[in-house]
Amino acid sequence: MSLFSRDVEKIRPAKSLKGTISVPGDKSISHRYAMVAALAEGTSEIRGYAASQDCHSTLACLKKMGVKIDERGETVRIHGRGLDGLKPPPDGVELDAGNSGSTMRMLSGILAGQSFRSVMKGDASLSQRPMSRIVIPLELMGAQIKTGEGGRPPLEIRGGSLHAVRYELPVPSAQVKSAVLLAGLFAPGETQVIEPTPTRDHTEILLEQFGADIGRHQRTIAIQGRPRLEAQSLQVPGDISSAAFLLGAGLIVPGSDLVIHNVGLNPTRTALLDVLVGAGGYIKILNIEMVNGELVGDLHVQASRLKGIEISPEMVAGVIDEVPMLAVVGTQTEEGFRVRGAAELRLKESDRIRTVVDNLRRMGVEAEEFPDGMSVAGRQKLRGADIDPQGDHRIAMAFAIAGLIADPVKPTRIRSAQCVNVSFPGFFKTLGKLAG
Ligand code: S3P
Repeated sequence: MSLFSRDVEKIRPAKSLKGTISVPGDKSISHRYAMVAALAEGTSEIRGYAASQDCHSTLACLKKMGVKIDERGETVRIHGRGLDGLKPPPDGVELDAGNSGSTMRMLSGILAGQSFRSVMKGDASLSQRPMSRIVIPLELMGAQIKTGEGGRPPLEIRGGSLHAVRYELPVPSAQVKSAVLLAGLFAPGETQVIEPTPTRDHTEILLEQFGADIGRHQRTIAIQGRPRLEAQSLQVPGDISSAAFLLGAGLIVPGSDLVIHNVGLNPTRTALLDVLVGAGGYIKILNIEMVNGELVGDLHVQASRLKGIEISPEMVAGVIDEVPMLAVVGTQTEEGFRVRGAAELRLKESDRIRTVVDNLRRMGVEAEEFPDGMSVAGRQKLRGADIDPQGDHRIAMAFAIAGLIADPVKPTRIRSAQCVNVSFPGFFKTLGKLAG
């Protein structure tokens, strides 16, 4: 694998992938630890903080509100300011969430609880993503939020004096659930969120670790407002959504045998393992343990013959970030890949239904696009192609994996390849190392 221009990565077919590696810290958990540590009393130490651009955006926003943060490699020390200690950003300074939907949506929950006015903006991709989903519940709680056209960023938030609500999420979304729970920290009484289907529950777990009173009953999560949050010493597990690309590669590149160390295995994130093992994939979990309320373990994967992968609408929330990788893996199965009920994918960093189908077709794969999903034929021979991930990190990584098994006549070239830094800096180096 060699870089032939600054932002195009050339991927050549690999004979096999072998080795033992680790992946960057979990992006979802890193954002949340940083935000809640900023509201706690005392200094929290977070080890293994994700080196990703997205998680850096969260730290940058917190710093603009007076939070002192020391960064030493992957260890971040956050000097909490207490529940009411955030300062207004300096005059005219906007909070920049970059490419990060999680930063914008979850931090909005905290900003809704502040008596000052703040403005949050994002990059070109984030500026196209829907924010009404958080504006509606946060306004119900008493915040005033102005958006750009069509409910999109930038957001101008005037918060303070929130009251508790009971809010039923119309669409399963951990970001929206978290925004409401974080706003609930500032509202006296009990705020309740009801989920249509379970989504990742890191916010619930870590709020409890910091000392908040969280209740969970079936699909309802309740938080008692105005808790005293206490600084914590925390270890972020490796990101299973980053490990996913290496798992996919390990399964489809013949002769591969990999161990990925220290991966977060929270049951709300591991549906992808069930799907891949259900299709006949060899994936074994080793050395499982509990760290700060989160399960962590090592994953051993070997190249396998796979039957077919079907994601039904009820399964979508559990594998929402893994669909691009599953679609690529699906091309190497007996029966292909199919997902329905996944219109949410059109609202991610790119329209992930369109970008996956377009790029698969560039590689000569038969693929069909539906308004809410796609189907991809199995037993496909991929040909090397120019891939345009539309600046979307997960599309770039999924198609790098595809490049590893494409026919050798023409290498696969991933445009705007640096977008992988959004979640997995060093991704191409890691692949290169595994491919020997
Ligand atoms: C995330 C939730 C998901 C996911 C995103 C991270 C989180 O988004 O796609 O990458 O950390 O809560 P939605 O809440 O929009 O489903």
